[in-house]
Amino acid sequence: MKLRGYVAANWKMNKTAEDARSFVEKSSKLLLNMEKAKVIFCPPFTALFDMDKSLQGKPWFLGAQNMHWEASGAFTGEVSSAMLKASGVQYVILGHSERRHQFGEQNDWINKKVLKALSSGLKPIFCVGETLDERQSGNMEEVLKTQISEGLQGTNDPSGMLIAYEPVWAIGTGQNANEEQIEEAHKLVSTFVCDSLGDIGKDIPVLYGGSVNSENAGSLFKAEGVDGFLVGGASLEPESFSEIIKEVETFIKE
Ligand code: 13P
Repeated sequence: MKLRGYVAANWKMNKTAEDARSFVEKSSKLLLNMEKAKVIFCPPFTALFDMDKSLQGKPWFLGAQNMHWEASGAFTGEVSSAMLKASGVQYVILGHSERRHQFGEQNDWINKKVLKALSSGLKPIFCVGETLDERQSGNMEEVLKTQISEGLQGTNDPSGMLIAYEPVWAIGTGQNANEEQIEEAHKLVSTFVCDSLGDIGKDIPVLYGGSVNSENAGSLFKAEGVDGFLVGGASLEPESFSEIIKEVETFIKE
């Protein structure tokens, strides 16, 4: 059994505000009395404000998928922490592999975002993970260490922060990391987080992400050091997403 379990939906560039509304409605019917897992919906920016309204009275949280570290200014296409907060957002995904690899985000940018999110009262879902090349060339440990030490530099109070270990090769491929690989990586992540933050790092939940679905969620959640999931593809349908939540709930202590 576990004491806690998070299930975060990263919808990436999918769903309009209207789609999001009907998703929440369907999920409420599928998840009656399921309140043990902490469920976080991360829709695109355009659905946040509306979704905050749909989530009123539901036991679920709202997250964004990115933000800029500056408070305001000439940053075309960007969104600030204050804008997210005013849209009802509590969590924000930072350093996602797609931001790192498709949009060139570097550890120093991600670090500024983490610090800004925390000082604004937003809870970062800070993502790390190695590519297949990095794993196969024996560099996984070094990559995770650098992403964590540089990404968390200068963090004093990480209250509410979550970490997501998402190996790049497992994202959207249908090939999830196995329990052994996850346990090994989560242990490393926790060690490096404690190196950066001290003992308080031990309390920071570490989620796994990468091809999680309703079939593998039960066995992956049992792996040591797994406090929940960050789910992409399987979070896009209310049926598959609620099955994952049910699997997680089964292993959370009353
Ligand atoms: P998939 O679940 O589609 O592999 O995506 C994982 C992910 O990137 C979540 O942030």
